[in-house]
Amino acid sequence: MALTALRVEHFRCLNAVDFQPDPNLNLITGVNATGKTSLLESIFVLSRGRSFRAGRASELIQYEADALTVYAELSSGTDTHRLGAEIARAGRRLHVDGQTAALGDVAALLPVQVIDPEIHLLIQGGPEQRRRFLDWGVFHVEPRFLDSWRRYRKALRQRNAALRRQDRREAVMAWDEELINAGELVDAWREAFNDQFHALLSSKSFDILPFELKCSYLRGWKTGQSLPDALADSWERDRATQATQVGPHRADLRFEAGGHALRHHVSRGQQKLLAGALVIAQTHFVVEANQREVVLLVDDPAAELDREHRERLFELFRAVPAQLFVAALELDELPWGTAGKRFHVEHGELAPLI
Ligand SMILES: Nc1ncnc2c1ncn2[C@@H]1O[C@H](COP(=O)(O)OP(=O)(O)O)[C@@H](O)[C@H]1O
Ligand SMILES: [Mg+2]
Repeated sequence: MALTALRVEHFRCLNAVDFQPDPNLNLITGVNATGKTSLLESIFVLSRGRSFRAGRASELIQYEADALTVYAELSSGTDTHRLGAEIARAGRRLHVDGQTAALGDVAALLPVQVIDPEIHLLIQGGPEQRRRFLDWGVFHVEPRFLDSWRRYRKALRQRNAALRRQDRREAVMAWDEELINAGELVDAWREAFNDQFHALLSSKSFDILPFELKCSYLRGWKTGQSLPDALADSWERDRATQATQVGPHRADLRFEAGGHALRHHVSRGQQKLLAGALVIAQTHFVVEANQREVVLLVDDPAAELDREHRERLFELFRAVPAQLFVAALELDELPWGTAGKRFHVEHGELAPLI
């Protein structure tokens, strides 16, 4: 599935943009603050109902406008879907083929990944970024994951509320059964996904990475212990901190290259290259696993990279089985020559470049 038509209205500085993307490669250029990132963001919003940049969804609505809209056509052979996202100040509505749709349904139909100038945070940032990265992959290969993860988070919120109220231990533990049932499923799917992902990273047939990468899963409680035992052991700490200290909400990934944790041992440029490689590897994995094409949004890929790192990253893009949308200041920063479709943004409008 690829995006074959896109219409974006009142999205930040983009007033009305309407175009037919190329199914493989789209290059978007323009000077600063013309709306390149906004255009990528609009595709992300269509899939996930929110932006990849920080801030509230209502900040995406153009000043003075009441609502933003993003419409798209998604096609593969004769199979076509119409997707839409409308964000008004009062709330959001997503639809597929004219019917109101849940977030999970749209995200499943249109898997979108991003490599932007903040991508090094996948390595350098907090565990939440890595959990999101992991869960994106798990969600796309295991349709039951989302429901269990939501159930887990709901039980966790209730349990933490009981801890904050300093309820009796029995009242706090009343949430444990649901927490454990959903939490064990979430954990098992994450672990299974990471085992396979890790196997792909190190397999001989997957040789697009010019370096050896390892990805270990840290489940969020002590190795070898069951979740019920970990919760029981954590009781005093939970009570003192008024929050549940162990469980899948504390999971993390540990990335290594050449036996070193990436977090401590590589420069910013290397982190960007490695984080980009991880996203691209995961894209390969998800495409292989569920046979659904991924849309990969790439913002300003040349930023902060020297020539060697840039070329290595571009080499990875060449092999990725995704519909690419790449934004950059100038076409000559990019390695694609005259391939794909090229667009230019200026004053919130988009025009094809011939
Ligand atoms: N809600 C909004 N309404 C109108 N303009 C906005 C809104 N939010 C941000 N902007 C403006 O839109 C532009 C955003 O551009 P951006 O997509 O980041 O550009 P680029 O990636 O090309 O540098 C900036 O000039 C910013 O001030
Ligand atoms: Mg930008």
